[in-house]
Amino acid sequence: MTLIPRPQCVTPSEGTLTWTSPLRVTAAPELRDAVQVFANDLSQTVGWSVEFVDDDAHLVLSVDAERRPEGFSLDVSDAVEVRAADPSGAYYALQVLRSFTPAASVTPGSELTEWTLPRMHVVDSPAFAWRGVHLDVARHFFSVDDVIRFIDLISLHRLNHLHLHLNDDQGWRVELPSWPRLTEVGAWRRSSPVGHERDGVDDGVPHGGFYTAADIERLRTHATSRFVTLVPEIDLPGHAQAVIAAYPEHGVTDEPVEVWTRWGISDNVLQVSEGTVSFAENLVREVAALFPGSPFHIGGDECPTTQWESSPIARAVMAERGMREPRDLQGLFTERLASTLRRLGHEVIAWDEVLDASVPEGTIIAAWRDAAKGREAAERGLDVIMAPMQWVYFDWLNSADPNEPVAIAAPPAVTTLERVYEFSVVPDQLPDELRARIRGAQAQLWTEYIATREHLDYMAFPRLCAFAEVVWGTAGSFEEFRVRLTSHLERLRALGVGFRPLETEG
Ligand code: ACM
Repeated sequence: MTLIPRPQCVTPSEGTLTWTSPLRVTAAPELRDAVQVFANDLSQTVGWSVEFVDDDAHLVLSVDAERRPEGFSLDVSDAVEVRAADPSGAYYALQVLRSFTPAASVTPGSELTEWTLPRMHVVDSPAFAWRGVHLDVARHFFSVDDVIRFIDLISLHRLNHLHLHLNDDQGWRVELPSWPRLTEVGAWRRSSPVGHERDGVDDGVPHGGFYTAADIERLRTHATSRFVTLVPEIDLPGHAQAVIAAYPEHGVTDEPVEVWTRWGISDNVLQVSEGTVSFAENLVREVAALFPGSPFHIGGDECPTTQWESSPIARAVMAERGMREPRDLQGLFTERLASTLRRLGHEVIAWDEVLDASVPEGTIIAAWRDAAKGREAAERGLDVIMAPMQWVYFDWLNSADPNEPVAIAAPPAVTTLERVYEFSVVPDQLPDELRARIRGAQAQLWTEYIATREHLDYMAFPRLCAFAEVVWGTAGSFEEFRVRLTSHLERLRALGVGFRPLETEG
């Protein structure tokens, strides 16, 4: 079996089963949408048809509430029987079946005369509920079509959350009719760095773009059909220079700013006055309305306090609230944005810097600075998404080879495929009773140095293949994985993915 991620348990038996089109399927009503996605894929690639029937089916799917969430069992004998916990379990079972068609069968217009399955029994479910990928569409904008393609690719690896980083110093990416300047001004920058930021060279080429409400609806509908939840992030009060370029009255200084044309961490942050906290609350509320029911990420990373330190308004807020450190001011945003979003029914996520001030109960911490931040959050009674940069930042170099394309940091900031495969989702020394606080893990694709779909493919794959198996919970021997990966990459090649080739051995 070449499937990635590898299922938890596969018991082969003697012989094979061969299917031909049309495929006769019986499915419980709640699983029909999942089967329909599979049927559409088959029709668009190999031209097979699926007929829903009441009896004498090739493939029978039923619901088994005893299974673990997103889990399933699969029996291939004279027919194929799937018992799924839920629609995503059914979808994943169908992916296992699909992995037995040739790699080229994923391409539209390809031939599949017979589909031969080995007789076997599979029992599978993911070890972690949060199997995420983050994509920064702020530093470089990616079109709706690019994001849809990316959703398909992550869902093929049974990853189930796509975190979209929707604003930063270098751009704001969501149209909000109440705040038109966010996209009229904030979605566009004059220029971007060429080569590495430290080289100080500009390309002088305007860059930008944004998603309309209709675009977001299209992305959500597509993601939902593939069992991927979109997770919007609005990163405040730092990383806010594009917002301040659009609405300068919410900055700390009177200096006008433009949407930032450099990479790094801008000192321009939001003011801490009631008017500005309430402005931030409104922005977040309006973005959240476009993602009903989704977890919402409020950012909170890398917020410099330099401007607050010399601001009379910020000093007055500190005095009024009895705060000792300017750092504590960030807690005002965390508290306010988190409580507003929770009232609206959204779970709230924030980067681990929010641990440095007060954190509202129920906030989920995305532990990125290191794995120990995940342990700290769990010990403080908070749920955690593990995203430590030393393991799962895929904007880091793939290798120390000087011919690697320019990336955010220099060696030793290297994340090889093998290292990703060795990542342990649960942080070291976490007491067993806190294990349930670890919801899962997420790989990060920051895009300062990723400007095109081709380069995104190169940085994402095959590291995401390794990550997917780790977070599914079935990573074992790297050598065995590498053999399966070699075949799996044929499938990605047929899909047109410009993955980074495997290093040749020896
Ligand atoms: C981050 O990488 N600033 C979360």
